[in-house]
Amino acid sequence: MLEKTLVIIKPDGVKRGLVGEIIKRYEQKQLVIKSIKIVNADYTLLREHYYEHIGKSYFNELLNYMMSGPLIAIIWEGENAIKLARYINGDTNIEKAMPGTIRGDFASNTTYNLVHASDSAESAERELKLWFPEL
Ligand code: CDP
Ligand code: MG
Repeated sequence: MLEKTLVIIKPDGVKRGLVGEIIKRYEQKQLVIKSIKIVNADYTLLREHYYEHIGKSYFNELLNYMMSGPLIAIIWEGENAIKLARYINGDTNIEKAMPGTIRGDFASNTTYNLVHASDSAESAERELKLWFPEL
């Protein structure tokens, strides 16, 4: 099914100069960029984005990390784009993130894990509106 999903290249991806490398991974799997922008995300936006994680031990560190510099928000479109982007990203638990995935190849910490991708059709719809209200 043709789907759209939200991917974020988190601030460490930008700082480490991995934007091109990361974008290439989705393009290789034939996802197509529909929209892309650089954002300095504020607390309100990030709290809304990560509302399911409010109260978790890592929540404050996660939001500080996401506010630590500019990030890249991307709308990708393609066949099964939602699941595909998550496979390309790799497991959340860094010890399980396989080589060949973005996290498996470039991240060494479960918090500082370079990328976000929507986890379901409902999340994708919500997150696309949140990050691209102008569309
Ligand atoms: O990003 P993903 O959907 O794979 O994972 P999540 O469970 O929705 O968690 C959101 C983000 O919180 C992760 O990408 C990590 O940056 C962070 N996190 C963390 O720091 N420690 C955990 N135990 C779980 C998640
Ligand atoms: Mg998630």
